[in-house]
Amino acid sequence: MTVSSAPGKVYLFGEHAVVYGEPAIPCAVERRATVTADPRDDDHIRVEAADLSLDGFTVEYGGPTDDAPDVDVPTPLLRAAMGYVDAAVEQARDAVGDESVGFDITVESDIPLGAGLGSSAAVVVAGIDAATRACGVDLPPEEIAERAYRAEHQVQDGQASRADTFCSAMGGAVRVEGDDCRTIDAPELPFVVGFDGGAGDTGELVAGVRKLREEYDFAADTVTAIGDVVRTGEALLADADPDDPPSDELLAELGGLLNFDHGLLEALGVSSRSLDAMVWSAREAGAHGAKLTGAGGGGCIVALDPTDATETALRYTPDCDDVFRAELATEGVRAEG
Ligand code: MEV
Repeated sequence: MTVSSAPGKVYLFGEHAVVYGEPAIPCAVERRATVTADPRDDDHIRVEAADLSLDGFTVEYGGPTDDAPDVDVPTPLLRAAMGYVDAAVEQARDAVGDESVGFDITVESDIPLGAGLGSSAAVVVAGIDAATRACGVDLPPEEIAERAYRAEHQVQDGQASRADTFCSAMGGAVRVEGDDCRTIDAPELPFVVGFDGGAGDTGELVAGVRKLREEYDFAADTVTAIGDVVRTGEALLADADPDDPPSDELLAELGGLLNFDHGLLEALGVSSRSLDAMVWSAREAGAHGAKLTGAGGGGCIVALDPTDATETALRYTPDCDDVFRAELATEGVRAEG
C-alpha cells in the first residue's frame, strides 16, 4: 500500500487564455489531495472517497477502465472526480506495463471539488504516483506531470492545458505556455482564498470561451490581453527577490494586474455573481487586488492581502462560504507512505 499527496493551486494569472497558448502563472498552495493505492489480485478498481461527498462514497468496477462511466455515481461532481481517478489508473497501468492490474484506491482531499483550486489535477497527480509506486515503479515528477496532463486532457475532451497538472506535480510557482512548462522564482505572496461553496463545470466554461473566441475578434483580443497581463506580471516577479517578503509596491502592482485579469475573465463570461461579490468585498476591505481562480462559474477567488482585513470582510460576505489563507506549497507531489 502506498500513499501520495499533491497540492492544489491558485492562478495568479492566465487561466482560460493558457488553453490557447498564452502563458499562465499558477501557484501551488498548501491544500492537498491524498491518494492511497493498494494493488489487488484481480483487475477491479475499488474507489473510496470518504470526504468527497457528504455521505462518503465507495464504488467498485471491473475489467477495462471503459466500464467506469457505467457505474452508479450519485452527483455529477463526484462522477467527474471518478472519471479523473479512472484516467489516473489508466496512466498508472500504462506506466507500469500491466493493463490489467487492479487497485483499491482511497481518495482524501482538503481541496473543494471543481472550485478552481485544482482538485482534479491534484487527485490525478497523487493517484498516478501512488498507483505506480505501489507496483514498484518510481516516476520522476516531470513524467507524472506529463501523464496527469494526458489524463486530464482525456477527461476534459481535449480541452485542458498543462498548467494545473504541471503545477500540482512540481509545486511552487510555475509558468506554462503551450508545452513549455517550468518552475519560476516568486516571493511568498499573501494569498487569501474565498470560496462560495459552489463549483463550475470546467468543460462547459472552456467551451463557452472557445465559442466566443471563434465568434468575435474582440473576444480573441481579450484572450490575447490576458496573455499581456501575464507577461507584465511575470516581469514584476522576475525583478523581485524570492527570499524577501514582497514589498507593498510589488503587491500593489501585482494586485492591479489581478484586478485587470478578473475584468477580462468577466468579459469572457466565466465569472458569476458570487465570485464578483467576493472580489468586490476583498477590494473594498483593502486587498491589493482580487480575481476568480480556475475555470470560474462559481468556486473560489484569490486576493492579495498581507493583513487580516480581507479574511475578516469575506467572513461577513453573504456569498462567501469559507475563507482561508493559502501558503505557497513549495513541494509538489510527494510520498506520504
Ligand atoms: C482550469 O483550472 C484552468 C483552465 O485554464 C483550463 C485549463 O487550463 O485546462 C480554465
